[in-house]
Amino acid sequence: MNRSSPAESLDKETTPEALIERFGRDLVNDFDLDDPAFNDRFDETLNFMAHKCPVVHSKVGKGYYMINTQDDVRAAAQDWQTFSSAKGYMPNRPDGLPYLMPEESDPPIHTRWRRVLNPHLSPKVCAGYEQVVRDDANALIDKFIDRGECEFISEFGALLPGWAFFKNVLGLPIDDLAMLVNGVEEGTFALDLDERARNFGEVFEYLDKHLQWRSTQPSRGDLIDTILAGVTYDDGTESPWEHKVSILVDLTFGGIATTTFVMGSAIHHLATNPDQRQLLIDNPELVENAIEEYARFFPPVVALGRTATTDVEVAGTTIKEGEFVMLTYACASRDPRHMDEPEKIDLSREGIPHSTFGVGPHRCIGSNLARIELIATLEEWLKRIPEYRVKPGGEPTYVTGFLRSMRTLQLEW
Ligand code: HEM
Repeated sequence: MNRSSPAESLDKETTPEALIERFGRDLVNDFDLDDPAFNDRFDETLNFMAHKCPVVHSKVGKGYYMINTQDDVRAAAQDWQTFSSAKGYMPNRPDGLPYLMPEESDPPIHTRWRRVLNPHLSPKVCAGYEQVVRDDANALIDKFIDRGECEFISEFGALLPGWAFFKNVLGLPIDDLAMLVNGVEEGTFALDLDERARNFGEVFEYLDKHLQWRSTQPSRGDLIDTILAGVTYDDGTESPWEHKVSILVDLTFGGIATTTFVMGSAIHHLATNPDQRQLLIDNPELVENAIEEYARFFPPVVALGRTATTDVEVAGTTIKEGEFVMLTYACASRDPRHMDEPEKIDLSREGIPHSTFGVGPHRCIGSNLARIELIATLEEWLKRIPEYRVKPGGEPTYVTGFLRSMRTLQLEW
């Protein structure tokens, strides 16, 4: 195949031999998002790639590229004509999986949907949910505060985002949250691709039923009713039922599979850095800045994919028409060309140029809600449990693929 190697223009730290010695594999020509070593050495790998590897290639399955610098990620994310979302966002997508709107579509279909969905998650609308989210954060803390310890993820971090989204926005019963969280997690991280597809299938089925039920109910004027009303595409056709279900699935994935990692990582960082905890307690006005820095440094969306619609060159690497390309938002947010000491967490960092919520037309629709959840978590937690630490032996565990999540974190106070 006439493909120029991403390794061609790189220095001696990025020769295959040097990479294999340091990382156990040739990151530049043989990357794998699902490699357990990437999960274990996440920060080190990201920092290295952000400095040294503008583009890497994976041989897994049909193969994929990863674009790693902030300028290139931004340019590709804006250029949807060249980097299309319509063939999916995950590499080696299991066959038969329905495409998710709006994520796996391009303008003008994408624009039609975003136009009607955006108002339901605007900064103003989300500000109206803030008190409920704070109350929920406190209700969760009430359940374990007297015990003097908790498993943060299952008792708080995996619950608050789902509660915030289900109660305020979707009107889904929170009793079904555990099943959906599990379905989304297994659908994303299960090593067996059939297992991923089966779990996705269950989430689809549940949300399809919910949408059908709501279509029999009086209108509430909420997000679900907007989805049910659908949109008219440019060719005059009405959005089909499958598109409506997939909108709900996409929103549910975003609503419950992401914020937990930033939350858990922030709480862990403050558990292990008492001076930073004190800084936020003494300067609560820093919390808003701190959550941007945490979002920058702990990106739940490591990378999302596009398909090249034509041959294109990125940082000296030729990507052929039809090849799959990941935009590594996680690396872009650590690009040393755009910030000082990107490998350090600095809660007072000014003008944090991160790409954690994506860039361009697909930029995260839920970022306003996510920010409210994160601010409420830090503020309410530090008010109620200002002194706490990681329980001996309770260090966080993680799972990583194109998303990253924290599985467990034991705390005590
Ligand atoms: C810290 C939390 C979150 C992070 C880091 C995050 C990250 C992202 C990123 C990087 C994208 C861009 C996708 C792309 O380029 O293809 C995205 C899109 C999206 N996010 Fe989020 N997200 C978060 C929270 C949420 C929440 C709470 C919701 C739901 C309320 C949500 C729903 C969505 C949806 C539906 C899209 C697709 C938008 C489109 O394709 O137009 N996200 N998110």
